[in-house]
Amino acid sequence: MFETLQPQAPEGLMATMAAFAADRDPSKLDLGVGVYRDESGTTPVMAAVRAAEAAMLARQTTKAYVGFGGNRPFAAFIEELVLGAGHPARAAGRVVTLQTPGGCGALRLAADLIVLAGRGARVVVSDPTWPNHVPLIGGAGLNVDTYPYYDAPRGTVAFEATLAALERLAAGSVVVLHGSCHNPTGADLTREQWLALAELLARRGLLPLVDLAYQGLGDGLDADAGPVRLLAERLPEVLIAASCSKNFGLYRERTGAVIAVTAGAREAAIAMGHLQLLARRIWSFPPDHGAAIVATIAADPALKAQWAAELERMRARVAAQRLKLAAALRAEFGAPRFDFIAGQRGMFSLLGLDARAVGQLASEHHVYIAGDSRINIAGLPEPQIGRLARTLRSVAG
Ligand SMILES: Cc1ncc(COP(=O)(O)O)c(C=O)c1O
Repeated sequence: MFETLQPQAPEGLMATMAAFAADRDPSKLDLGVGVYRDESGTTPVMAAVRAAEAAMLARQTTKAYVGFGGNRPFAAFIEELVLGAGHPARAAGRVVTLQTPGGCGALRLAADLIVLAGRGARVVVSDPTWPNHVPLIGGAGLNVDTYPYYDAPRGTVAFEATLAALERLAAGSVVVLHGSCHNPTGADLTREQWLALAELLARRGLLPLVDLAYQGLGDGLDADAGPVRLLAERLPEVLIAASCSKNFGLYRERTGAVIAVTAGAREAAIAMGHLQLLARRIWSFPPDHGAAIVATIAADPALKAQWAAELERMRARVAAQRLKLAAALRAEFGAPRFDFIAGQRGMFSLLGLDARAVGQLASEHHVYIAGDSRINIAGLPEPQIGRLARTLRSVAG
């Protein structure tokens, strides 16, 4: 059977990672892969996570399956983290949450639910977006198209073009939005823009699917959840894919949740029933380890405060790196060409380089960035900022 399959080239970022691994130069620099790194260049296990993990392991008496909905205290905590304790949609019983293997699992389950509920619904993602959105959502059988999003020369959202494109969508279409820290551009909507977008979505009967993979790494835990809370207040239905990979550093533990905000309590119960059946068909029960760690942190006020403080330090480090990199590039280029980096949010920015310059960065300077010229600002050690600025000048000057 397998001889009928065609060999596959590694996907974009996988190829960058392979090239980085094969590079023997000791000065090589990985700004491709999208993980947070601290000052020493490592992706740490957060101290609160380590402590919660030890407590959880000491207490755990069984490895029997968790239920179909996953770890319920975890789900309740994620719902509160995302929507806030007093959100009216929660108070009205309009919200259900199911634990998933990472944000990817949440996106896939949301897409499967859309297929079930709205056969043929059109889904649009921002141009550009995280490259995995298209195969993840399209793999569920949905048609995925794009809407204009990024104003590259300004490094901001091309909001008028975004609104104009969404205005033309048929009612029932699904709009994938990045809740905060847009990947790959780092360009987020302002609060006024989110309000205008919410008005359009409500008026045109469009369903937002909000991908929240970086809550806490933009402006803070509550601030980053502001847009999704606002949508859930103003719209009858919202789907949310939440990930604990970045904000708890639980990448490999595959920890996330899909949240469905529905029109009423009856619809919420139906949505939960379908989400559980959909999950049953793919992974049956989600992995518990990461979720149990998060639930342990949630249940212990001291651990929770420790985690939030660690996350805030990570956030502040990325924000400071942005300012330093923008200043170094301004000095090196003698022009404001990269000033936009300072005004963006989260771990990523697009440098706007062509494929030749991206290739040259790797082959001549041992600096690896994604093929679309996305750099991971959190992956940039402070002593390397000057080197990156000089290197960029030599390939893009
Ligand atoms: C925009 C976006 N959405 C979702 C994810 C999925 O994260 P997870 O590792 O939790 O599946 C990522 C991870 O890089 C991401 O960047």
